[in-house]
Amino acid sequence: MDDRKILVLTGASRGIGHATVKRFSSAGWRVITCSRHGFPENCPWEAGPEDHLKIDLSSPDDVQRGAAELIDRLEGKPLHALVNNAGVSPKEPDGSRLDCRKTPLNLWQTVYQVNVFAPIMLAQQLCSALKEGGGSIVNVTSIAGGRVHEFAGSAYSTSKAALGALTREMASDFGKLGIRVNAIAPGEIKTDILSPDSETAILPQIPLGRFGNADEVADTVFFLCSDQAQYLNGSEIHVNGGQHV
Ligand SMILES: NC(=O)c1ccc[n+]([C@@H]2O[C@H](COP(=O)([O-])OP(=O)(O)OC[C@H]3O[C@@H](n4cnc5c(N)ncnc54)[C@H](OP(=O)(O)O)[C@@H]3O)[C@@H](O)[C@H]2O)c1
Repeated sequence: MDDRKILVLTGASRGIGHATVKRFSSAGWRVITCSRHGFPENCPWEAGPEDHLKIDLSSPDDVQRGAAELIDRLEGKPLHALVNNAGVSPKEPDGSRLDCRKTPLNLWQTVYQVNVFAPIMLAQQLCSALKEGGGSIVNVTSIAGGRVHEFAGSAYSTSKAALGALTREMASDFGKLGIRVNAIAPGEIKTDILSPDSETAILPQIPLGRFGNADEVADTVFFLCSDQAQYLNGSEIHVNGGQHV
């Protein structure tokens, strides 16, 4: 019988999400992943193809369809964690910051759909399974949710602030069902989402003097979903080497 704990993770194909798959898998969890693309043929992860779903989080209809498919894949089993990790951070074609004046309405809408609405839609749909599993939710916010950032655009930053506020609301509403809801706010983590010249501009702001690795973020996500974090609810953990101080 398969009695592994189960995680549903968005944005698993790269960066922090990819490291999170590896962290939970190595601890014996079953990880059901989602992203816009199919499972890559060259990926050596055995369970990957059968536990991967294609969902475009920028489409509300596709999120509803994907959530129904996720529930089917659970086959009535309890869910132990939902990690809302996928995120989009649009930039100008030359990589520079898309500020409030330059961001068109349709882009604000797409960013909010992926970064804020998809997380709550998935949490609503998976609520019963999470309650059954005494599970927890982790929302991935950002240091940019708390201040103007040199590279992160206005739509992205405000969406992450909204996701932080949503984490607080969810911790109150889902917490009453025994489902803990927390957030992690990464600083500068070496992934594709970073702008090319961010190291020169931002490194001096980080007391630890380096950018973070995706594995270090995955460790924090894992901790929040573990039995060691049973009384943590509604918190937002900075994973940024002290960049926020
Ligand atoms: N790296 C950092 O320094 C940093 C800092 C602060 C916060 N964060 C946050 O951490 C999270 C992960 O970031 P990352 O750096 O690992 O990003 P990344 O390398 O750009 O990966 C983003 C992930 O999101 C998925 N995704 C994007 N749009 C999607 C959509 N419409 N539907 C489904 N999946 C979608 C991508 O998968 P597909 O392309 O395959 O669909 C990919 O797996 C994000 O929420 C980001 O905002 C990162």
